[in-house]
Order: sequence, then C-alpha cells, then structure tokens
Amino acid sequence: MKQKFNSCFLDSCFAGKQTVLALVMSLIFTIPGYGQQKLTAWDSLALSPPMGWNSWNFFENTVSETIILEIADAMLANGMKDAGYQYIIIDDFWVGGRDNQNRLFPDPVRFPSGIKKLADEIHHKGLKLGIYSDAAEYTCGGVTASLGFEELDAKTFAEWGIDYLKYDYCHAPKDVTTAFVRYKKMGDALRNSGRPIVYAICEWGQRQPWLWARAAGGHLWRTTWDSRDAWQSNDNDLTGIMEIYEQQKGIAQFAGPGGWNDPDMLMTGLYGKGRSSSVDHRFKGCSFTEYRTHFALWAMLAAPLILNADLRNLDRETLQLITNRHIIAINQDVLGKQAEVFLERNGLEVLLKPLANKRWAICVFNKSNQQQKYSFDLKKDLDRYEPLRVFEVWNEKQHGRLSRLSGKLQPHDCAVFLLEP
Ligand code: GLA
Repeated sequence: MKQKFNSCFLDSCFAGKQTVLALVMSLIFTIPGYGQQKLTAWDSLALSPPMGWNSWNFFENTVSETIILEIADAMLANGMKDAGYQYIIIDDFWVGGRDNQNRLFPDPVRFPSGIKKLADEIHHKGLKLGIYSDAAEYTCGGVTASLGFEELDAKTFAEWGIDYLKYDYCHAPKDVTTAFVRYKKMGDALRNSGRPIVYAICEWGQRQPWLWARAAGGHLWRTTWDSRDAWQSNDNDLTGIMEIYEQQKGIAQFAGPGGWNDPDMLMTGLYGKGRSSSVDHRFKGCSFTEYRTHFALWAMLAAPLILNADLRNLDRETLQLITNRHIIAINQDVLGKQAEVFLERNGLEVLLKPLANKRWAICVFNKSNQQQKYSFDLKKDLDRYEPLRVFEVWNEKQHGRLSRLSGKLQPHDCAVFLLEP
C-alpha cells in the first residue's frame, strides 16, 4: 500500500461525528482497569501476539498452494513450529472470483486443489491457515473482496477451515465511522461463522484503530503503513523499520491479551529479496545486526511476530535469531504488556517490558550511528529497587545480582536483559 491517504487523519477522519466516535472509543479503552477486564472466548483466540508467516512481501501475486505447503514443511523442519510459530497466512492475490452462488473461489491456476484441501493439509501438519480480504469491492491488488458479502465470506472461510483473516482497507472511504462499521460487519460475521478465526484489522493506523478495533472484533490492528525492507527509508511515502518503530510510542496501553498493536510484519531475513518490501529493488535490506534489533524490538513491543522471508532458504543466523526462545518468551509473556521507552540518553533508548512473576525484560537500543557505551544503575536510572538477577539474552549469560547494566553497542545494535527476583 502506498501512502497516498497520508493526510486522511488530519483532513477528515476526525471531523464532526467522527471525533465523537473516537472520543467515546478512547474513553472506553482508557477506563482504569480496562486491561484487567474479564477476557471473552473471542479474546482468547489471541491471548498472546500471533506468530507466523505471511506471503505478501516475498511472493506477492505469485503465491500458490505449492508455496504455502513448502513454507509449512519448512516451518516444521527448521524448528519454527516448535518455537511457537503457528499461522501461515495467504495474503493478497489468492482470489479467482465469485461463483454463480456468489461464493469466493481461489485462483484456479495457483490454487488448483481449493482452499479447503489446503487448510486440511496445513492442519494435518499442526499449523493454522490464514487468508486475506478487504473491506471494499476489491483488494489492494485489485481482486474481488468482501464488501456486501461479509456473512457469506466468513461462512465460506469457516467451512474451509480458515483460522485467521487479514482484512485490508484499500478502495474504502477514509472516514473512521465507515471504517468502524465495515470492520465490525466482518467482525460480527466471523464471530457468527461457527469457527474461531483470528481477526487482523489492516487500515494502516490511519484512523487510530487502537481506539476502536477491539470493539469491531479485531484481535490485532495495523498501526502504520506497510513496512519496507530498510532500516530507515528516508522517503516520505514509504516507511522503514525505524519510522515504524517511532510510531509505536504512546499507544502501549491499548495492547494486551486479546488485542494487539500491529506495527506490520518482520523484514528480518529478507535482505532486499522481497517485492513490495523493496519496491522495484529500491531497498536493499538491512544488516543482520539491524534485523536482530528489529526482531527484539518487535518482541518487546508485544507485536505479532509474522515473518515474510522465504522460510525454505533461511541462513543459519537468521533461523537461530527467529527461534530464540528467550526473545519469543518475552514477546509471548502472559501479562501481554507492550514495552515502553523508560529512558533516552546519548542516542540510546532503554525499553522496559513488565513480565509475569515480577520479572522484567530490558532492551538497551543504540539508535545512533556511532558506537555507544552504556552504564545504567538499576535503582537510580531504571527504578528497579528490588535485588534482581540479570540474564543477558544474546550470549545467554547469567550475571547473578547486578546493580548496574553496562556494555558497548555498535550502531543500531541492542542488548536484551531478563531480570528476575
Ligand atoms: C496492503 C497491506 C499489505 C498487503 C497488501 C496486499 O498494502 O497493507 O500488508 O496486504 O495490501 O495488496
């Protein structure tokens, strides 16, 4: 998605009655203790951020059942499934059209066996299948979408055995009221479909979905435009990883079990080989250090961990990174808190994520372009008063009880620590 609606938020989305809707939603969602509300069965479909893989950036309009099955096999063989990855999501361009009963059917060339058979095979491998549509007549890629057929499509997805729907917003009106109505329509249809289906809202954060997406039935909602495979894109129309990271600040309170801020998929491992993520080979990808930081930051942010790289051909260090059990445990922690920046100093940011059982994850991130030394007193700088044992994640080093975290970081690198009483 190009950023052509960039002015939507300021122009019209919050004018008049939209402002009222946004205010009402924000009041509901900021009631003290909202996060501690009783979780419903629907919420329980995403008690922790979804983990998986999506076809978009690498395969775009070439996605096929063969590719999906090969990716699933790769996920089993390379240890990703054991590490917690579950969803294989077919993004745009799977639809062939509607039949004479208005039921969606897949592209007959790339999905000749049909989606039901594919879902059965994916389930047989112990994984889950996701699919994609759009809250308008056409998807972003221009194929048939779900507007006006929400109930039928949700029922079809349920019958096929779909476990996750990503619902996009191309070709739809800009205002927040329409967005809420259209997303709720599909949310209700999914709830009534008879099958538990995780609902991923994708309107690119343009109408502050963190205020209303949960009320529309969403389990996750994109907070930004599409990520590109660049540390920093330096392009007004296309967002790099750092531009997206900055946009996650100030919305942590809206994430929690059952509903997650989604800063888009992981570029980790793409190395400029994606299509949309590189836009005509414009973005050449990141260094391993940058991908590692991207992965750690997304884990700290309690973001969905959805890979895009070709899992059939991952290099060893990428595989080790994306299956790092400590980072995944931080992401999947049952408290479901999104990390916030606690301290900024000399181009360094310290993110803190409270974890269950009085533990903490701390990420010291060198945003600057120079090597930086750091030394933080746990009490004075980071307000951790109780004595805590410190475990350093990358080198798996148990430090015992420390009063200070210190070290040296190369540009764009980060150190991750687990602290426990
Ligand atoms: C939009 C979404 C992307 C992807 C494409 C498919 O741009 O934000 O994640 O789904 O559409 O066309």
